[in-house]
Amino acid sequence: MYIQQLSLNHYRNYDQLSVQFDDKINVIIGENAQGKTNLMEAIYVLGFSKSHRTTKDKELIQWEQNYAKIEGSVFKRKQQFPLEIQITNKGKKAKLNHLEQKRLSDYIGALNIVMFAPEDLNLVKGSPQIRRRFIDMEIGQIQPIYIYHLGQYVKILKQRNHLLKQLQKRKSNDLTMLRVLTEQMIEHAAIILEKRFMFMKRLRTWANEIHRGISRGIEDLDLQYAPTIDVSETDEKEKIGTVLAETFEKLETKEVERGTSLIGPHRDDLVFYVNNKNVQTFGSQGQQRTTALSLKLAEIELIYQEINDYPILLLDDVLSELDDFRQSHLLDTIEGKVQTFVSTTSVDGIHHQTLEKAEIFRIDNGKIID
Ligand SMILES: Nc1ncnc2c1ncn2[C@@H]1O[C@H](COP(=O)(O)OP(=O)(O)OP(=O)(O)O)[C@@H](O)[C@H]1O
Ligand SMILES: [Mg+2]
Repeated sequence: MYIQQLSLNHYRNYDQLSVQFDDKINVIIGENAQGKTNLMEAIYVLGFSKSHRTTKDKELIQWEQNYAKIEGSVFKRKQQFPLEIQITNKGKKAKLNHLEQKRLSDYIGALNIVMFAPEDLNLVKGSPQIRRRFIDMEIGQIQPIYIYHLGQYVKILKQRNHLLKQLQKRKSNDLTMLRVLTEQMIEHAAIILEKRFMFMKRLRTWANEIHRGISRGIEDLDLQYAPTIDVSETDEKEKIGTVLAETFEKLETKEVERGTSLIGPHRDDLVFYVNNKNVQTFGSQGQQRTTALSLKLAEIELIYQEINDYPILLLDDVLSELDDFRQSHLLDTIEGKVQTFVSTTSVDGIHHQTLEKAEIFRIDNGKIID
């Protein structure tokens, strides 16, 4: 799939922008603080209806303005459709084919995106929360129903934690209510866990193949899902539900004592191993970067398998950080099939072969020049 046309209104430092993109490689060049990441972010927001950099939608509105609008024309499996995101101080509207989609799960997934940015190094090094966000976003864009279950889970979890606090402070003694919430929460948790296990299993095969390629065959990458309960990848949601129920029962007194939910998908983690060693603990900077890159490239293949079209790839400021071999490997992997956006402050770090094929956009203070 590809974005053919993009228009921005009052989006960050872009007052007005209307641009046609190449369906293969687009290189965005500009000095620091001119709007390269803002442009990538706008494409990301068009796909996910939220930014990869902030949870505050209002920050996307140009200063002194009261709304921001992103419009794009997307080709997917040879069909064209418009997408639109509008943000005001009051909220956000997402339109697919000019029709507002009230539920995010009806919007996300129309435009599929894989992004690789400097902060993705944190995928390996950072907190579990970052890895959970990664897996949630990725499953969400290929299986929108997942977003629904996640939303329900978070909602019930909040109610449950609130009640646990009340029980802890003895402002309530409603254990029946606690058990009702637990049961409701388990229903969604079991589905979330089953889908996460499945995703990791499928991503693993691709990621290892890609990682071996990038490391010239000397490193194997393994991915594992680390749950807070005693279940494994081969368990189906019924079994997962049973184990969750048993574990919650055992932990009830402790959860009341602590005033919070101690197990469940919101506490789980992902673990990456290179040649059987935990990359987070033992990996070099280069190995951590390669791991993150392999995961992202693996996603491209996984999305293709799932929806029968390639996603769009956004490479913000990362290409010049890869050595020549890794750069060529990356570009060979996507060659000709994935619409790619590459941003950089200087063409020096980018392979001349890439530049020859690319459409080049120069950005200066929120405008495309030349
Ligand atoms: N809501 C906003 N309204 C207007 N300008 C904004 C808004 N948010 C950010 N900016 C400005 O946008 C500018 C460009 O930001 P951006 O992150 O896109 O730069 P960049 O070209 O990616 O730079 P770098 O090479 O340093 O990564 C920043 O200087 C910032 O001041
Ligand atoms: Mg930037």
